[in-house]
Amino acid sequence: MVRRIAVVGSNMTDLVTSIIRMPAPGETLEAPAFSMGFGGKGANQAVAAARLGAKVMMVSKVGDDVFGQSTIDNLKSNGIDISHVGTVIGKSSGVAPIFVDASGENSIFIIKGANNDLKPADIDAAAEDLKQCDLILMQLEVPLETVYYTIDFADRHGIETILNPAPAAPDLDPTQVTKATFLVPNETELALLTGMPTGSDAEIEAAARYLIGKGIRRVIVTLGSRGARLITAESSTLIEPVKVKPKDTTGAGDAFIGSFARYYVESRELEASLKKAALYAADSITREGTQKSYATAEEFDRSVTQTR
Ligand code: RIB
Ligand code: NA
Repeated sequence: MVRRIAVVGSNMTDLVTSIIRMPAPGETLEAPAFSMGFGGKGANQAVAAARLGAKVMMVSKVGDDVFGQSTIDNLKSNGIDISHVGTVIGKSSGVAPIFVDASGENSIFIIKGANNDLKPADIDAAAEDLKQCDLILMQLEVPLETVYYTIDFADRHGIETILNPAPAAPDLDPTQVTKATFLVPNETELALLTGMPTGSDAEIEAAARYLIGKGIRRVIVTLGSRGARLITAESSTLIEPVKVKPKDTTGAGDAFIGSFARYYVESRELEASLKKAALYAADSITREGTQKSYATAEEFDRSVTQTR
């Protein structure tokens, strides 16, 4: 049986400028290149899962501008069910001006636009279709009330959830998200969520255990070039990093989560799914762009065999 994944989350159009350095205030500086791409943490995770063959549905909002229409077309062309992607009249779509330096490091602004209009009522409207899903993915580029509402909805209906608490949101109330099956923060987001330091492995583990004490079942801390760590009540497991030469790391975290969701929902094997997801995310950073750099299942198989 093909498993179904829903993403309740954002979409953005990424406006990507390659830079040598950031201009100082008042300075005008020439940058070598510009390109546009489809992004937004929600859409990115949806596209990664879909390219790997999952059946994916998105609950999301676009504005009534050119970006909104092209975003919908892009989701469709990735085989994603868009029956619950709505257009907000009079609002701009989400956009993300992104600056990528020569080392592949990125700095991102997000303007949420219509993503701010994704409300609990939209979850109610999508309820019957959401109930058919095996897993629901969320991030924090839509209103927090919608995230809390979706977690409760999923919990009531026995649907597993992954919350990626990104970008870091100081207003997030940890007590409202304890029913999530998986929480996938990076170190900064984990520190913000717990109010605890996350500078060392021991501190990261203690912070994750604190959340498990509050009721979250599984915490997966993404550690960038140091891999990831899975922490449950019984275990703590390092997912080794996959070393590649980075070209553009934008959206690597989303590639990790979207591909993990796809592998996990199919196999229910946590560690194996995380290892594959680490490989998939690493593969994405060897290419430019966000969604543009996400491989299909066939492309991924090919690149894995080549590097072995
Ligand atoms: O996680 C990367 C994404 O964050 C980008 O695609 C950008 O749109 C921002 O939402
Ligand atoms: Na990339």
